[in-house]
Amino acid sequence: MLYRKWGSEKDEVVNYTSSIDSDKEIMEEVKLTMKAHIISLYLSGYIKKETTKKILAALNEFKEISQGYEDVHEALEDFLLKNVGEEAGWIGLGRSRNDHVATALRLKLRNKLIEILTEINSLRKTLLDKAKEHITTIFPSYTHLQLAQPTTFAHYLTYIEEELASRWEIIFFTLKLVNRSPLGSGAIVGTNVKIDREKEAELLGFDDIVYNTLSATSSRADIITTISELTVLMVVLSRIAEDLIFFSSNKLLKLPDSHVSTSSLMPQKRNPVTMEILRAKASESIGILTSLLSIYKGLPTGYNLDLQEMNKYYWLAVNYTISSIRVLESLFSQIQVNKVNIDESSLATDDAELLSINKKVPYRSAYFEIAKKVREGSYKSTLKIEDSINMKAVIGSPNFDLITNLIKSRETKLEEDEKEIEAYKLKIISKVGELQVIENGIEE
Ligand code: ARG
Repeated sequence: MLYRKWGSEKDEVVNYTSSIDSDKEIMEEVKLTMKAHIISLYLSGYIKKETTKKILAALNEFKEISQGYEDVHEALEDFLLKNVGEEAGWIGLGRSRNDHVATALRLKLRNKLIEILTEINSLRKTLLDKAKEHITTIFPSYTHLQLAQPTTFAHYLTYIEEELASRWEIIFFTLKLVNRSPLGSGAIVGTNVKIDREKEAELLGFDDIVYNTLSATSSRADIITTISELTVLMVVLSRIAEDLIFFSSNKLLKLPDSHVSTSSLMPQKRNPVTMEILRAKASESIGILTSLLSIYKGLPTGYNLDLQEMNKYYWLAVNYTISSIRVLESLFSQIQVNKVNIDESSLATDDAELLSINKKVPYRSAYFEIAKKVREGSYKSTLKIEDSINMKAVIGSPNFDLITNLIKSRETKLEEDEKEIEAYKLKIISKVGELQVIENGIEE
């Protein structure tokens, strides 16, 4: 044991306070953080090349965290001491688990955010591709879950794409907040060791540093902001899941076979199970966010072990988000729209608008004239459903030509977003590559 005398696998207190289980998630990032720290000490002349070499070699061998440690940081330090000997004790200089865990969490989260942003884009692409196939596919729209006016399936799909584009924007913004380095901040006020924090940040592919060391070591606000945006995304997806359940129950759509399951008793059933799970995961995401906010709100500034208990929730939220986006993408790429008969009453608004415009009567009089016929059961429209769609005159409506143009501009926007996230990813990869080059140089 490193920092205390007590402790063993069977020690209830160690197990109670240990983060070993959730630390498995950040193991690679903890190693990378330690690597940057060691190289930084070497570059500043604190440790000799030979020692650095030995420590780095041992670090690369660290593959498994055994129980009985309070956390991965302690396990790693013990591993290095056992494999390198007393010399490995140098790694304790100018670092704390507080700045190291904060760094590892940000590294892991930024990678996951890049993955999420890439997944959102591929769902957007699937939606726009499908929309192009369904520009003239008539579909109902609903308000209050009552039939409203005729629209098209392309109109529905482009709605989802636009919702996702906004979420993409804001999640990308949280990525920039998250991708800042806390490393070199010690336990709370920094260190007397001359660590070049900016250089360390650069080598880890961070955009910037979290300047104030109090903030660097004990804030999780950027991470909570991120999780809250992921939760909003999940809630948006959950509404879509609810729509799909409703549409398929009403035979407007056929969900892919892989997304439905039958009943063990009732052979005719096609239950929309993936969408039901998605809806539940969105609720769980709200629970996760609530847990994070509740743990965080009363904490005094400075590191408190309560922060450790938040870690597991980040990955849960992230994984729910990724799997839900993928499931929706799979569903939309295989979806089939049934030919639907839309009730004539859904044309009443068009008739009222036409009456007002053509006969130059105030809309309210036209409205009452049509409403009276509907009530009496004598309403009959002269319009076809297609006419209703093509009479729509405003941008963003389902009008075949207008939506065709809209899809084109959405595709351009999507291409820009795809390029932006790809460039961001490559920038990180090339910076972390520099760290590797330095490591190789030391090992020669
Ligand atoms: N296991 C801790 C965490 O995940 C690391 C920091 C512990 N710091 C401390 N002073 N006990 O947050």
